[in-house]
Amino acid sequence: MKSPTIVPINQLPEQPYASVLCFPNIVEDELRSRIQELYNLGVAALEFSGSASVFGVAVPVLGKGFVGIVAIAHLKGQRLAVKIRRTDADRADLLHEAAMISKANMVGVAPRLVASSKNFLLMQLIDGDLLPNWLKTHKEKEAVRRVLGEVLEQCYRLDEAGLDHGELSKAPKHLLVDKSGKVFIVDFETSSVERRVSNVTAVCQYLFAGNSSASKILGDVFGVKDRLGLIDVMRAYKKNRNRENFERLLHFCLS
Ligand SMILES: Nc1ncnc2c1ncn2[C@@H]1O[C@H](COP(=O)(O)OP(=O)(O)OP(=O)(O)O)[C@@H](O)[C@H]1O
Ligand SMILES: [Mg+2]
Repeated sequence: MKSPTIVPINQLPEQPYASVLCFPNIVEDELRSRIQELYNLGVAALEFSGSASVFGVAVPVLGKGFVGIVAIAHLKGQRLAVKIRRTDADRADLLHEAAMISKANMVGVAPRLVASSKNFLLMQLIDGDLLPNWLKTHKEKEAVRRVLGEVLEQCYRLDEAGLDHGELSKAPKHLLVDKSGKVFIVDFETSSVERRVSNVTAVCQYLFAGNSSASKILGDVFGVKDRLGLIDVMRAYKKNRNRENFERLLHFCLS
């Protein structure tokens, strides 16, 4: 990992920082207006550190996807995560995601949203690991049970709140575990309050029925789950979404 670089807002027009702010296409007007947007949000500096990299750009970041690049922002003495909308994202703004994160925050899910604008989301910085990486170094059954129990509980709370995350059936990049073992679900850009909710069943599918690196490790920790048994508990919960069916599913998956 490269060492962190803290860049005050007035140096952001310089390279390579301009390339992160306006990835992958820098247009002068857009760059200027994005820096003004950061200034209006109260951001004093950006910090470039983390284990991800941006193609062709010589600074490290926390994460990179198809919609955004996530770096660190300094605001009123706090270090926050900032999701920067890519110039080629298939979304015109990040405001829908902001609304979905605040709804998730109401039930104690997702990094706390601090502020948002067209091209930026400022939220609580999670200092931790993606779940599949966390599992590589934490194989003790009790610890894994506690963290996965928390993942499923949070999904249950989202189900109860009527908020469907939308990307939990393939979640290698959407579940973070911080240094104290707290779980955070991230990336609410395809979330909806209109769709039928399927957070618990989608995450179960990913964790216990898929072919991911996480499900392979979980197979070692808990033993491979009987497919038909898993389908049974998931179906019962889907049909009748209540606490009793949720706990049955929890017990089936985590014992
Ligand atoms: N609050 C946060 N604190 C720390 N790291 C974060 C935070 N939010 C996101 N990240 C990191 O940044 C990565 C990308 O974020 P996110 O999934 O929101 O971007 P995206 O462009 O929507 O991605 P995708 O194309 O996969 O949908 C995450 O996988 C995670 O590693
Ligand atoms: Mg996304």
